[in-house]
Amino acid sequence: MKTPIRAGIVGTGFAAALHADALARCRDARLEMVCGIKDLEAFCGRWGVERRTENFHELCRDPRVDVVIVCTPTFIHRPVVEAAAAAGKPIICEKPLATRLEDARAMVEAAAKAGVKLMYAEDWCFAPVLKRVEEIVAEGALGELLYVKAKETHSGSHSEYAKKLEYCGGGALFHIGCHPINWVRHLFGREVVEVVGKTSGGGSRNLVHKDYEGEDWGVALFTFDGGGQGLCEGNYITLGGMDDTVEIYGTKGALKVDLTLGSPIHVFSRVGYKYSVEKAESQLGWTRPAVDELWQLGYPPEIEYFIGCLRDEKEPMIGVRGEDGLASMEVAFAAYESMRTGRTVRMSEFRKSLGGE
Ligand SMILES: NC(=O)c1ccc[n+]([C@@H]2O[C@H](COP(=O)([O-])OP(=O)(O)OC[C@H]3O[C@@H](n4cnc5c(N)ncnc54)[C@H](O)[C@@H]3O)[C@@H](O)[C@H]2O)c1
Repeated sequence: MKTPIRAGIVGTGFAAALHADALARCRDARLEMVCGIKDLEAFCGRWGVERRTENFHELCRDPRVDVVIVCTPTFIHRPVVEAAAAAGKPIICEKPLATRLEDARAMVEAAAKAGVKLMYAEDWCFAPVLKRVEEIVAEGALGELLYVKAKETHSGSHSEYAKKLEYCGGGALFHIGCHPINWVRHLFGREVVEVVGKTSGGGSRNLVHKDYEGEDWGVALFTFDGGGQGLCEGNYITLGGMDDTVEIYGTKGALKVDLTLGSPIHVFSRVGYKYSVEKAESQLGWTRPAVDELWQLGYPPEIEYFIGCLRDEKEPMIGVRGEDGLASMEVAFAAYESMRTGRTVRMSEFRKSLGGE
């Protein structure tokens, strides 16, 4: 048996628990150490971890940590990634990669300079249902891809930091629309050349959440190099649980996916029960409880894949590299720019205007 790869998680909140669960299911890895500034004892107790610290530099430098998993709020991704890279450790970083493009670029550069992998934790790229969709598309069942429409929507973030642009980087399109944006890029396997965006505008202009600085509804319509359209949405105005869907239209077929609300179980209850799906407000009446929600959303297969990349020294695929996190941020920011100017944004010009390539 191979020695398991030892992971260190920074953060003890929602995403940290997703990764701790995924590590517990992974044969070739184990959770060695946790860094947190809140609920550290409780988190370590829950996941059976002895080694803990309040200082992420200490976790990154620890000789018994082989890979650092970044589960801090988005504005604290860059310092942790830079500390891990400086310590020569490979990194798995949560989405969105950063709050600002300059931070994302610096993170990609820091990892490249240190010669360590920066892997972007986009769970949609590992969701078993979407992997099956990718197989069907690759087989040619839908012909050439013409148009893909995808969204992640729910009723609002569980985290206070998500209300502030400085801490989160954007509103719903950026914070949760990053999943469909990145997965659609991964599906096409080509770069986005043009973007049009529309959002609710943030703050008092929002449809529901006036206390969020970022938009509570946003869409990005984009064109790929060589053709093909993506239309991605993120919103916080959706009641009834997290609603993630995909529609694909090709020259020879079409396909629809309900990633979150399409459980094979139909329950009717007058009294309710504990949990059905993420962000559902109620379990009364007819509901569709997820079977293994974390698996369905791709977290355990994601960790399995990243650990495999480290064990076998493989480069991560398109969609889950640091560069992909950066490219997805660019699409969302280009949508904001389009909303601001009322124009179609050409990505090459947009990047130049921001001092990028
Ligand atoms: N892939 C997904 O589906 C998914 C789901 C949820 C969140 N996320 C991402 O994960 C990241 C964290 O979000 P969350 O929902 O877990 O937020 P959260 O508020 O639940 O947790 C953030 C954690 O970071 C800790 N933290 C803050 N500063 C720290 C520091 N300096 N050192 C150590 N710990 C620190 C907080 O105490 C908290 O435990 C965000 O980037 C978010 O976008 C991804």
